[in-house]
Amino acid sequence: MILCSVGLTGTKYGCGGGGCGACTVMVSRYDPIQETVHWSVTACLQPICSLHGAAVVTVEGIGSTKTKLHPVQERIAKAHGSQCGFCTPGMVMSMYTLLRNNPQPTTEDIRETLGGNLCRCTGYRPIIDGFKTFCNTLISCQNGDRNGKCCMENSNSHNNESDISGELFSMDNVLPLDPTQDLIFPPELLVTERLCFQGEKVRWISPADLKDLIKLKAEYSNAPLLVGNTTIGWFQEEVHPSIHPSTNIHLTTLFYLGVTVGAGCSLSVLKDVLLQGIEELGPEKSRVYQALVQTLQCLASKQIRNMATIGGNILSANPKYDLSSILAAAECTLHIVSNGNANIFGIYLYIISHNFLFAILFFLIANPCALQWEFVSAFRQAQRREFSFSIVNSGMRVTFRHDSNVVENLDIFYGGVGPTLVKARHTCKELMGRKWDEKLLVVGTQLLEEEIYVPPTAPGGQEEYRKALVLSFFFKFYMQVTLELQQKVGMNDLPLEYLSALKPFKNEVPQANHSFQLVPETQSSNDPVGRPNVHQAALQQATGEAVYYDDIPSVKGELFVSMVTSTRAHAKIISIDASMALAMSGVVTFISAKDVPGQNRRLWFNNPEELFAEEEVICVGQIIGAIVAETREQAKRAAEQVDITYEDIQPVFFTIEEAIEHQSFFDPKRKLERGNLEEGFEKADHILEGELYMGGQEHFYMETQGLIAIPKGEAGELELYVASQHAAYTQEVVGITLGIDSNKITCHVKRLGGGFGGKVMKIASLSAIAATAAYKTGRAVRCVLEREDDMLITSGRSPFLGKYKVGYLNDGTILAADITYYSNGGCTLDESSFIMEKALLHMDNGYKIPNLRGHGLVCKTYLPSYTAFRGFGGPQGLTIIESVLHEVAARCGLPAHQVRDINMYKDEKCYTHHKQLFSPHDMVRCWNECLEKSDYTHRCLSIKQFNAHNHWKKRGISIVPLKFGIGFSKGFYNQGAALVNIYKDGSVLISHGGTEMGQGINTKAIQIASRILKVPMSSIHIKETCTGNVPNAAPSAASFGTDAVGMAVKDGCEKLMRRLEPLIKKHPQFTWQQLVVEAYCQKISLSATGFFMGPHTSVDWEKSDGNAYYYFTFGACCSEVEIDCLTGDHKNIRTDIVMDVGRSINPALDVGQVEGGFVQGIGLYTIEELQFSPEGVLLTRGPSRYKIPALCDIPPQLNVHLLRNADNPHAIYSSKGIGEPPVFFGCTLFFAIKEAIAAARRERGLSESFPFSSPATAEKIRMACEDCFTRMVGEHC
Ligand SMILES: Cc1cc2nc3c(=O)[nH]c(=O)nc-3n(C[C@H](O)[C@H](O)[C@H](O)COP(=O)(O)OP(=O)(O)OC[C@H]3O[C@@H](n4cnc5c(N)ncnc54)[C@H](O)[C@@H]3O)c2cc1C
Ligand code: FES
Ligand code: FES
Repeated sequence: MILCSVGLTGTKYGCGGGGCGACTVMVSRYDPIQETVHWSVTACLQPICSLHGAAVVTVEGIGSTKTKLHPVQERIAKAHGSQCGFCTPGMVMSMYTLLRNNPQPTTEDIRETLGGNLCRCTGYRPIIDGFKTFCNTLISCQNGDRNGKCCMENSNSHNNESDISGELFSMDNVLPLDPTQDLIFPPELLVTERLCFQGEKVRWISPADLKDLIKLKAEYSNAPLLVGNTTIGWFQEEVHPSIHPSTNIHLTTLFYLGVTVGAGCSLSVLKDVLLQGIEELGPEKSRVYQALVQTLQCLASKQIRNMATIGGNILSANPKYDLSSILAAAECTLHIVSNGNANIFGIYLYIISHNFLFAILFFLIANPCALQWEFVSAFRQAQRREFSFSIVNSGMRVTFRHDSNVVENLDIFYGGVGPTLVKARHTCKELMGRKWDEKLLVVGTQLLEEEIYVPPTAPGGQEEYRKALVLSFFFKFYMQVTLELQQKVGMNDLPLEYLSALKPFKNEVPQANHSFQLVPETQSSNDPVGRPNVHQAALQQATGEAVYYDDIPSVKGELFVSMVTSTRAHAKIISIDASMALAMSGVVTFISAKDVPGQNRRLWFNNPEELFAEEEVICVGQIIGAIVAETREQAKRAAEQVDITYEDIQPVFFTIEEAIEHQSFFDPKRKLERGNLEEGFEKADHILEGELYMGGQEHFYMETQGLIAIPKGEAGELELYVASQHAAYTQEVVGITLGIDSNKITCHVKRLGGGFGGKVMKIASLSAIAATAAYKTGRAVRCVLEREDDMLITSGRSPFLGKYKVGYLNDGTILAADITYYSNGGCTLDESSFIMEKALLHMDNGYKIPNLRGHGLVCKTYLPSYTAFRGFGGPQGLTIIESVLHEVAARCGLPAHQVRDINMYKDEKCYTHHKQLFSPHDMVRCWNECLEKSDYTHRCLSIKQFNAHNHWKKRGISIVPLKFGIGFSKGFYNQGAALVNIYKDGSVLISHGGTEMGQGINTKAIQIASRILKVPMSSIHIKETCTGNVPNAAPSAASFGTDAVGMAVKDGCEKLMRRLEPLIKKHPQFTWQQLVVEAYCQKISLSATGFFMGPHTSVDWEKSDGNAYYYFTFGACCSEVEIDCLTGDHKNIRTDIVMDVGRSINPALDVGQVEGGFVQGIGLYTIEELQFSPEGVLLTRGPSRYKIPALCDIPPQLNVHLLRNADNPHAIYSSKGIGEPPVFFGCTLFFAIKEAIAAARRERGLSESFPFSSPATAEKIRMACEDCFTRMVGEHC
């Protein structure tokens, strides 16, 4: 916020809790030993007072397009590592800081550095590719293998076709890294005196030295010590002083017998010190250090580790924090000063029995484990392998009598199984004196099972899973120690296949192998179409110059609006009392339904939608009113003070199953059918009934929703600067709300920091609310949703349940399938019925099932209304039919790919189940190429072998084809418009109806215009999307943006060229600019609108008949995974995608869309899980609870091939829409995980058919891999 107020808007705000990395900046401080130290930190957690004496470098400080770019900025842009660009400044600053500390990093350094920077668009690979060029290794061919071997030496990736390339970018002529140009640390920032800052709410004191700190603490005993601030975060109501001990207790000493760690030492420094210790002591004597480093490596992110201190981690006493369990096991001690007395404590005792508020932790002493017969290990399992709080963590230590396997001492601690750190006291006591053998394992497991109680009320639930982890960790420890003892005391050898319990998953840097078809040699070198041009605004995004709606400087008199939302799922509103809020400083007004000058209630396909809830609320998070205040903080604080009384109403239900029970469905209900089901079932050898549940998904665009509404003060005119994917709809809704004609409302959309379907509908309501506030106050109003509110209010992808009955032959041929799809629509219809239609329209995927029927019902529940999300029902419709095929294969005992192959559409002319004619030719090509490029058959054999030799780790592989409809099935949306203006200097300005949200629509539009006008891309500009320039535009959605806009731009440019044609013929020697001037002088209009009337798609739902789509995009994807049966963790090993994008207009952008979409699919199918409380409150709000894929989730091998010689007569320059289809490919991971679990179950003699739902989280994987541990837990829970 401070940065914004001084005009530095390059640093982005994505979450406010250290969980996304968008706000990364570099902080440099003077350090007495190293002189200057540079840390990457998240600005959102840095209290401004803590920066006294520090130099802060933001993305603006390192380079700009106006002066000179920094090489980091240039390389991320050139490597196509910036799509929407909202994460880009954070990425740049993380990398910049790494280079300041280490100008020649390794790829592992880069991986570690970027682990805390989330990107929702790119899939990370291009960012890594750009930054890898700083590594001190030869920049090898991008198609090379992991060892840097060029593709030419690698038979797998070598391509014989001469028109195929893998080079999406070139680093020729890039700026070299020159560390001598870096900014120096300003010497005047050296400070040692006590400092005191007094704010409106907070007093902040930085003591001069240790003595001063103790004195201050005695004086203000209630004042918290605030060190890294990563736990305290936003301190809102604290009026007492916060004491910031500055650099006083940072010092750390490493000595032979242990390490003394200053409590103020950051976790990064701690890790470095421990690594040094490991090197000095060798592997045997440094076991404690190794266990600590192992934990630190995946604890939080680099930025957080740079800020977070060891003292804060321990004294926060948060059971989810990882360090206490291992420090307690390692018998580390705390040196505490409390009420003036200095004492030494063991960690466990201190944590369970003391009040931390009055204490100052000075030092922690950790012994390295000097004893020869002592073994120490740490374990953790989290939702995501890195940058995620642990679900359960553990520290274990055992000491043996010399030269024996008799346990002398044993300590086991668990975090995450109760409100505080838990010691398995009884178990340890019972096991002491016993021999470390299988008997001890059995007894120990039973004892632990009895002793460690996970209360059902434990935050986050997962009672059985946590309990299973408790036992699994003990088993892993047993195995680890046994392995070491084997060499020392000659115990019985462990079965080799059991050793797989010990192999940790290693996070690796993704490597890519791409291929795309080069443009024909005959194409002019000036014609950019078909070439991998860099995103038009990539450099602005990399320098922080790119403007998003919240970067627009505040307008005179601007106010801020904050929403007041319902805390009840279904209730009557009895009263709304805003008097307390209105009395607060800075509050201007409160608005609710009665302030809406036009319509508060609208009918959307006959279903009512209210802007503000009037009489009744129907979900938690529904907007009831809004506070308008002078500042964001004032608005937010006051919104919390609005008092609403409710009277609960029955019924209240949230799930699909409950909705089915209540028969609560929205209209219309849809059905599609072909063939004769009854006949199909009769002829079938087998009938199978089953179901698949697919959870929902949060958009998690990096830029939250918001806008600025500015009344112009004349004739009711209103300007909106808004992050909308559908500006025309926003304009319409604002007009209806205010009772103003659309011609007075102008929506401007410069760019979006990601949209993914989430900024089509909900943003219109937010805009209408901000507009109402602006109307009432007559002042400009800004609305920016905090991440938590965004997730609560705007919701995301709807969960689906597919119930099916399928009839099939012994060879896997499916004769009939009857599927009922249920989606959870939430409390209002939004786009849920269209989403359901898309699911039904995709239910055949690439399969010719002769008798097929689908029913679609949208459930009405009391959850926030679900909305569009990339894929729009397609992934759900496709996944459920894929699940049917998967199950049929399992029942027939056949490989799943064989059953898919046998059922595939293969004739040259085929009809979909809604009677649309198409050719599956290119789908079959994608399928065959994917089988070949992924080396599928060979890898299936390797996986079989791997599984036979590894009992606790299993691998699985899955391949699926894809047929995805492009365009809107509501034909009227299939249109595009553009305005092309040529200015007298020859420059060209394009306006079009699409919105740029990272997908590169502007870049492609410029490429198209450049081809037709024959002017360089640099002479063509797109400023913004504006409803005043291009009216009534369709949303940028349905993968149809470039098709619609591209055609319209082409049309506009061709009109202009037709006008210029006579002049060109007359003056062939004229330059472009001369031509334009001549045209102007001859009064030829240099402005033209372009229009594209797309296809008249429609479906007759009564007859199951209609051309729903313009054409189909095809593809195939193969993924391999490995699972850890003991923890449920999984690792994505390799993914190969072959995609038919027709003749790509820009292969770099298209590969980017494929990778980015696939990675969103990784989230959808494996990690991202929405959780609600029994009262219907969304619990997974913000990045600490809701995990999207981070760098650690990307398969180390992610290969994307664009199908060669693929034509598409329907779309611009024979290209195809690609935005949505790849999300579905994430399901390959889901099915591969299922295969791996099935392998584990097969080996344990269990049924290979087991219930499993998406996402395949660690919990579900672990519990599906049933074994003695899960059975023990199941019996007792
Ligand atoms: C995004 C994110 C992810 C995270 N992921 C993990 C994770 O995976 N695993 C994990 O273990 N932790 C995780 N953490 C927590 C992090 O490790 C702790 O927040 C951090 O170690 C606390 O240190 P701090 O200096 O920031 O403490 P502060 O926030 O400054 O203080 C925390 C508490 O400790 C007290 N305190 C701090 N120092 C002292 C002292 N010397 N003497 C007395 N009291 C003191 C403070 O008064 C306060 O009550 C994460 C945090 C964030 C923000
Ligand atoms: S905004 Fe700071 S980490 Fe997300
Ligand atoms: S480019 Fe990374 S979030 Fe959009």
